[in-house]
Amino acid sequence: MSVQRAAEMLCGSRSAVALTGAGVSAESGIPTFRGAGGIWSQYDPVKVASIDSFLEDPSAYWKVSKERGPAVLAARPNPGHMALAALERAGHLVGVVTQNTDGLHQDAGNHRVIELHGSGRMVQCLDCGARERRADVQSRLDFEMPPRCKTCGGVFLKPTVVLFGEAMPILAVEEAFALARAADVMLVVGSSLVVYPAAQIPFAAVESGAELVVVNAEPTHLDRLAKVIIRGRSGAVLPEIAALMSAVQD
Ligand code: APR
Ligand code: ZN
Repeated sequence: MSVQRAAEMLCGSRSAVALTGAGVSAESGIPTFRGAGGIWSQYDPVKVASIDSFLEDPSAYWKVSKERGPAVLAARPNPGHMALAALERAGHLVGVVTQNTDGLHQDAGNHRVIELHGSGRMVQCLDCGARERRADVQSRLDFEMPPRCKTCGGVFLKPTVVLFGEAMPILAVEEAFALARAADVMLVVGSSLVVYPAAQIPFAAVESGAELVVVNAEPTHLDRLAKVIIRGRSGAVLPEIAALMSAVQD
């Protein structure tokens, strides 16, 4: 049974690493980007989430962000996040590399979280560098579109996330690949694995000898390399794996 097999692999691991995507936060009420109900089926990411489109007209980004705002700001860690934090506490997970910008792994209690695409919890003015909490901007979006910088009045108030066409945070990327290359088990959860370089990370792990566990609601192109594939909701699967692991430990 794959959940049992995954639990055994993680119990025997000394350097397991998780790579997570939007699917791990779906059960916290944050819509995914692709797959069933994904937001990129409603919007063209190049038109609303690229650095070029942002510099041309920040309101294209902010109109979508305003709509997603309440769900993202209200989101709390779900049992899948909590299970990954429990695995780290029990010494079965070295770290979480995430594509998500919602901060829910940190809220759940994971300490080593590498945010490949930055954090959506802060915004920064591209004109004067002033930073502000994203939560504080939400209340102005009804009458200020795009929102203006409270310090200089500039209109280029950008979340501290990586937009399409923007450079990745090089230190985070280097740390993520170093963890992957040292991993003996790579646990991929809730990602369609279509955005690079994040999608390259599990390959790097497998190339360096790691065994792969994929927990995803839909097939991914990495399934063919996986030792274990668990088709299901991470909010149910991850706690099951964690429970089996603590049973094995007792
Ligand atoms: N449990 C497990 N998997 C799930 C769940 C769930 N509850 N709900 C959805 N999924 C799966 C979907 O089937 C899909 O394969 O999670 C995957 C989410 O894929 P994406 O929405 O493409 O998210 P992600 O892989 O993180 O996207 C990568 O793309 O738009 C950019 O910057 C954005 O970080 C994002 C990147
Ligand atoms: Zn400013």
